[in-house]
Amino acid sequence: MKGLYSRLVGAYAILIGMLLTGLGIVLGQFFPLFYKNLENPTFNQYMLYLIIILFIAFILSMIISMRLLLNYAKPVDDITSVVTKISKGQTVDWANHPYLHFYEDELSIAVKEISETMEKMSTKRIVEKDRLKTLIESMGSGLLMFGRGGTVSLVNGMFRKTFGFEDKEVIGRTVYSIGLPTEIEKLIEEVFMTEQGQETRFSIEIEGKSATYSVYGAPVIGNHGNWLGIVVVIHDITELIRLEEIRKDFVANVSHELRTPVTSIKGFAETLLSGAMEDREVRKNFLEIIHKESERLHSLIDDLLILSGVERAEFKLEFTDVHVNKVIEEAIQLVSVKVKEKKMKIIFQPSSEIVVEGDAGRLIQVLVNLLSNALAYSQDGKEVKVYIEKTSEQVIIIVEDEGIGIEPSQLPRLFERFYRVDQARSRESGGTGLGLAIVKHLIEAHNGSVEVYSKPSVGTAFYVKLPIKQE
Ligand SMILES: Nc1ncnc2c1ncn2[C@@H]1O[C@H](COP(=O)(O)OP(=O)(O)O)[C@@H](O)[C@H]1O
Ligand SMILES: [Mg+2]
Repeated sequence: MKGLYSRLVGAYAILIGMLLTGLGIVLGQFFPLFYKNLENPTFNQYMLYLIIILFIAFILSMIISMRLLLNYAKPVDDITSVVTKISKGQTVDWANHPYLHFYEDELSIAVKEISETMEKMSTKRIVEKDRLKTLIESMGSGLLMFGRGGTVSLVNGMFRKTFGFEDKEVIGRTVYSIGLPTEIEKLIEEVFMTEQGQETRFSIEIEGKSATYSVYGAPVIGNHGNWLGIVVVIHDITELIRLEEIRKDFVANVSHELRTPVTSIKGFAETLLSGAMEDREVRKNFLEIIHKESERLHSLIDDLLILSGVERAEFKLEFTDVHVNKVIEEAIQLVSVKVKEKKMKIIFQPSSEIVVEGDAGRLIQVLVNLLSNALAYSQDGKEVKVYIEKTSEQVIIIVEDEGIGIEPSQLPRLFERFYRVDQARSRESGGTGLGLAIVKHLIEAHNGSVEVYSKPSVGTAFYVKLPIKQE
């Protein structure tokens, strides 16, 4: 469409043209009045002058009108083109426009403000949309949305990853055609029917591994109460279930471990009370058993308390400069009774002063547990060696025995709570099955690690790696 400026210029041209033509005709009529006996050639010459003068007048008035119109009509045209651009969502370059930045009338200022506000709003909308998209894409849960017509309108990365979908494969497809697990299809059906949020759990095999998911489906209701579709959120709870199982197993294990010595103590005490007390030999024998079982009960409760303390979120070590030689010597001292009992020997050559940042009490506990195991799982008369290796960042304490060793298949589970290779042997030696679990926790709290190397009938070596400095 033509602009206001060119339309007005056209209209002015016609108007001025008509006025000047009229003026020409009128003036033409007057010539014979002024000049009597006007000869034909002279008349024609005067007419020509008149036409030329009128034409020049036309040009001059057009130039003046155009200049005047430029001031009033051009801004309207420019603003119209700006508003058209804004309405199409295009951006307006005010600063570099040949005229726009000169205009200071109310209309231009208002349009400029509208354009700036809209630009700000659209930038904000883009940022918010991007943020929402990133949020939906990167959330840890899978998200799927159906529109009113029952076709998929949105699916996020986690959902696609879980079920191996491609974006293009699912968008626009119906619920039943994309191959969702039946549990999810059923849940969606229920949400459709009840118009209420629904929740379920299901397990599926993904790449040979069983995974458990919690699914939540809910209707999406608009501001005016109209039904917009359904949103389905799925969350992987495999790890949660595993932890729950571990917790249940632990409670069962603890109860079992506690019951055995208690049953034994109760049984022997009852037998004593019902007459066996009279026989001195039997009495001593039974009391020794009761004593041993109560010792076991005691160490079990001690270990349980240590473990539950270590596993607490607020558990903190007290880091100081620890002299490794001293810690080892103290631990050896603490197991000396057992060493004598089994006629064994612990060989340790204190090396040059080595200091690590650690909790001395806890490190002694770790070494006592490892030494007790080395003693418990070795035949009488064998030797246990303790030595230290040092690198620029780590100190490694090695406890090595010549004992019964451990089958390679048993090694991965060794540090689990209550895991024992030989139940009877562990019990016989007064083990609680918690020693290595405690070792692992305490060393990890020092930001270190424990490794075990073993060969059945040859021996076992535990490597405790500790950082020299805590971060
Ligand atoms: N030095 C070792 N030699 C052989 N087996 C060991 C050694 N240390 C630990 N084990 C095995 O690991 C199991 C778990 O050890 P631990 O957690 O200390 O529990 P326990 O109370 O049974 O000693 C033990 O029952 C034993 O079978
Ligand atoms: Mg032990």
